[in-house]
Amino acid sequence: MTQAVMGKQGSAFVSELEGKHLHPLWDRYQRITPVQPQAPDVPFIWRWRDVEPMLHRSVAEVSINDVERRALIMAHPAFGSETTTTSTLLAAFTVLDPGERARPHRHTGAAIRFATRAEGAVTIVDGRRCEMKAGDLIVTPPMVWHGHINESDQRIIWFDAANMPLIRAFDAHFFEPGDPRNNEFWQVDAGEERLWTEAGLRAQGVEASPAHSPKYRYPGEATRRLIAAAPIGADGLRVVRYVNPATGGAVMPTLDCYAARLDKGTATRRKRATYNMVCLVVAGEGRSSIGEATFEWSQHDVFTIPHWTWARHEARGGHADLFMVTDKSAFERLDLVREEME
Ligand SMILES: [Fe+2]
Repeated sequence: MTQAVMGKQGSAFVSELEGKHLHPLWDRYQRITPVQPQAPDVPFIWRWRDVEPMLHRSVAEVSINDVERRALIMAHPAFGSETTTTSTLLAAFTVLDPGERARPHRHTGAAIRFATRAEGAVTIVDGRRCEMKAGDLIVTPPMVWHGHINESDQRIIWFDAANMPLIRAFDAHFFEPGDPRNNEFWQVDAGEERLWTEAGLRAQGVEASPAHSPKYRYPGEATRRLIAAAPIGADGLRVVRYVNPATGGAVMPTLDCYAARLDKGTATRRKRATYNMVCLVVAGEGRSSIGEATFEWSQHDVFTIPHWTWARHEARGGHADLFMVTDKSAFERLDLVREEME
């Protein structure tokens, strides 16, 4: 049989199959089994100088009593109206004026806050009062009640990240509102968070759920001490992973956070990975080449490293600190982590 005859007959057959809701694998093979991942999103940067004025305007435009959260999500144009930052992650900034409360709720999406200008803010997580000092990381694991309050006399802003796009892709997202008039929710102290604040020590007789970290607050001062002492890795970065103190693994099964320091005058090696990453510039200035893009960045800018995209970073002026939120732990559980370095 000649190629032309085969093609003609094949195409008529394919149409007949499609009419019966059957797709021949041989016709769809490349689409079903791509040779490698192909991120739909290009690397992107949101600059603090553009975001900050919009946060201030949001306070004037909406009352906290009328909205679930006063947050501005960084929405990548590649995803159109989908409201997502990378394929699987959301990143945002939240703003609260003095005395304002962001009402309690819980959901199956995992989330984190990183305190940028949040001195005086408090997040209540699972009945524990977690302060938000500069550089603190607060984790809110799936289905744990949480709410926020600004107890200071100044406007506060923090960085948020969550994985609703991933959970929605599985269509496994549940959400439950709390009672905004329940004052008892806010009348708590550090509670059981005290069990997990002392590094290297574990109280006997305290059980921890294997599902996620029993520790919710990771103080910035501890991160800064450790990152200064951490060795430079093969990729040229000093990296500290936020871990579950009971297991040594990621803080949550689907959200995985890192602090990284770029030393002055040191460029990292080019690296790519199957997981997605959002980077918040905590301090300093620098430049990153990600895929075809090159970004100059400074404090509180946010940029993305889509999955399977080459990335290289360098600090400018002095050293620079990045906070990196990833879905690496989800990929670990699915045995899908692959990393390459040049
Ligand atoms: Fe939430």
